[in-house]
Amino acid sequence: MGSDLNITKELQEYILSHGLNLHPVQKEIIDYNISLGDIKRMQISISQCQFLHLIIKISNIKKVLEIGTFTGLSTLSMALALSDDGKIIALDKNNETNKVATDFFKKANQEHKIKTLIKPALESLDEIKNEKFDLIFIDADKNNYIKYYEHSLKLLSKNGLIIIDNVLWYGEVVNQKNTDKFTKNIKEFNNHISKDERIEKLIVPLGDGMTVCRKL
Ligand SMILES: C[S@@+](CC[C@H](N)C(=O)[O-])C[C@H]1O[C@@H](n2cnc3c(N)ncnc32)[C@H](O)[C@@H]1O
Repeated sequence: MGSDLNITKELQEYILSHGLNLHPVQKEIIDYNISLGDIKRMQISISQCQFLHLIIKISNIKKVLEIGTFTGLSTLSMALALSDDGKIIALDKNNETNKVATDFFKKANQEHKIKTLIKPALESLDEIKNEKFDLIFIDADKNNYIKYYEHSLKLLSKNGLIIIDNVLWYGEVVNQKNTDKFTKNIKEFNNHISKDERIEKLIVPLGDGMTVCRKL
């Protein structure tokens, strides 16, 4: 049986340096997030930026919903991959980080594609319940992941994709001894979708692990 390669730090750097180049404003966001200290772990990884870019390009995606924007790295990565008439609705409850994100969107000349809604995501999801999306990226509070996923399934166009971040939770999902609430939430979520016959799914081990679901 074939097996997956063990990716060392050197291989990881090699992969990134031989992949898609980042836009200067994506690099600025990463530098800005580093300046924030430990909270920088909130942003998606560079390999995830590249992956989202490719998925949007190859799947003819026009309309995206993002749940969890932070300072805008994932949003901008998706916006840059969309065609000029593409649209993203980006949800986050934090005014302060949203202001930082929208300044970066303007700097990258992508603000015409992105509408941000600043309030608890479940309220925003209720507001947009009549819209349809080709891709929904979930990367917000983990205790609501099952609710975000169930809402997302209703908002997805046929053959649409849902991508969920942090599904390997720093590798803790396989640690039987870990009973903290975040690990528990992620495990419950992973069990929820592993049994779901409304979708096809694959966990891609990029960044903190992301599940890609295709609605059947
Ligand atoms: C992991 S970060 C998102 C990172 C982002 N995708 C990126 O790549 O930079 C999670 C975000 O979810 C937001 N968030 C947490 N709970 C939320 C809620 N109930 N409603 C809306 N946003 C929420 C936080 O404010 C935070 O910005």
